[in-house]
Amino acid sequence: MRLIFLGPPGSGKGTQAGLLAEAHGFCQISTGDMLRQAVADGTPMGLKAKACMDAGELVPDEVVIGIVRDTLSGEKCRKGFILDGFPRTTGQAQALDAILHDFSAPIDHAVAFTVDDEAVVARLSGRRTCRGCQAMYHVSFAPPAREGECDKCGGELVQRDDDREDVIRQRLRVYAESTRPLLDYYRGRGHLVEIDAAGPVDTVHAALKKAVGL
Ligand code: AP5
Repeated sequence: MRLIFLGPPGSGKGTQAGLLAEAHGFCQISTGDMLRQAVADGTPMGLKAKACMDAGELVPDEVVIGIVRDTLSGEKCRKGFILDGFPRTTGQAQALDAILHDFSAPIDHAVAFTVDDEAVVARLSGRRTCRGCQAMYHVSFAPPAREGECDKCGGELVQRDDDREDVIRQRLRVYAESTRPLLDYYRGRGHLVEIDAAGPVDTVHAALKKAVGL
């Protein structure tokens, strides 16, 4: 199965993509995770991306389109993939259409997760991520057993630089301007399914599986 996950920051795209990918052996392609890795590695692409990410702005299309093209051409995506956070602009959506046409691999569904802005701010300002294994927690909704320490690997839990409230609100503005129009783009192609993402993780997951037929 080939899926696109759309939705504002903090709508749970990464959480739900991780659950579905693990259960079904799909490849999870998170452009945000890949860009953060490039920043951590200090690559030229990472240096270019960091300023945009810290400001809550999008990284230029040509950078992310190149990453996605390279990843999709890999063997591990043959069984299916979930694009988590890509595309985010009409230019990226058109580029993706061309890439998938080249691979004869049309998408099955574009899933839009909907949640209101104040819930997003509460979720993201409380998010903590393990510096070691990248496992994700929330100080209230999904706390670790020991504060500041990853349950899985014992690594340090840290807050993302772009999870400050002012940057979260800028990311929400960028989503409304640049990415929300893609809902109409995929609705027009008959691919869009919308999920109410305001409930608990398990409830959202059950709705997701039903919507995509898994
Ligand atoms: P990216 O890392 O993709 O961030 P995002 O889209 O803003 O999404 P998030 O990871 O913040 O949220 P999510 O929807 O995945 O929610 P999550 O499951 O983590 O991108 C970061 C930056 O990289 C961008 O701003 C941009 O600069 C750049 N970038 C990335 N892709 C790009 C592209 N294609 N083009 C250009 N630039 C790009 O959950 C969030 C929190 O909520 C967690 O703490 C979680 O535990 C909790 N949670 C999840 N679900 C629930 C629930 N149902 N109830 C309660 N809590 C929940």
